[in-house]
Amino acid sequence: MNTDLIKDVFVHSEAIVDVGARVGARTRVWAFAHIVAGAVVGEDCNICDHTFIEGKVVIGSRVTVKCGVYLWDGLIVEDDVFIGPAAVFTNDPRPRSRKHATEYPVTRLKQGCSIGAGAVILPGLTIGLWAMVGAGSVVTRDVPDFALVVGNPARFRYWICRCAARLKAASSRGMWICDCGRRYREIEPWHLESEDGHAT
Ligand SMILES: CC(C)(COP(=O)(O)OP(=O)(O)OC[C@H]1O[C@@H](n2cnc3c(N)ncnc32)[C@H](O)[C@@H]1OP(=O)(O)O)[C@@H](O)C(=O)NCCC(=O)NCCS
Ligand SMILES: [Zn+2]
Repeated sequence: MNTDLIKDVFVHSEAIVDVGARVGARTRVWAFAHIVAGAVVGEDCNICDHTFIEGKVVIGSRVTVKCGVYLWDGLIVEDDVFIGPAAVFTNDPRPRSRKHATEYPVTRLKQGCSIGAGAVILPGLTIGLWAMVGAGSVVTRDVPDFALVVGNPARFRYWICRCAARLKAASSRGMWICDCGRRYREIEPWHLESEDGHAT
């Protein structure tokens, strides 16, 4: 473990954090997790039991990685993302034994999105800001910001708020609102933008 880079981090005695892995302050790494050299994990994350984080993976802050999740090279996880138990990521679109790609397609989980338990994300996709993927879904296309998708193949079901409630169409055209008070504008088809800013 690279202790000079690790301040105020809880690492369970049965976890492996390789020398050369970077883990941010107040992050907790639980039993049987393995964070490989080169991987970057931000602050205030929760890396649960039986997780694997490969060496080129970059994870932001306040991210939750639930039990039994393997994060492969090519994956970028932004701040506030939730990854449900046993969600599956892939980085080789046409896998063959003993044939290794030299570069991996980038899969990006944008800020605040949630991946349901057991969902499968195909290589090279982007899951939008505060979007949500239903449990067990197979995601084959990019998911727009604030979209809820479910099923195999995952299909758009409805727009979802940052607070995780379903958005309602407002009386003014192209506006979507939530009981929590947040408002969203559909600036073009399939493109919702938060009126409140997504970083707050
Ligand atoms: C996707 C989700 C948020 C939808 O919640 P919801 O809008 O309350 O959904 P409902 O239960 O009202 O179901 C609405 C419809 O979607 C379907 N549906 C719901 N979740 C689904 C899923 N994961 N996959 C496929 N279909 C799903 C329902 O069967 C129902 O279909 P119908 O209209 O044909 O009857 C929720 O079902 C889900 O998967 N949450 C993720 C849970 C999870 O993985 N948590 C991880 C931490 S434990
Ligand atoms: Zn809301």
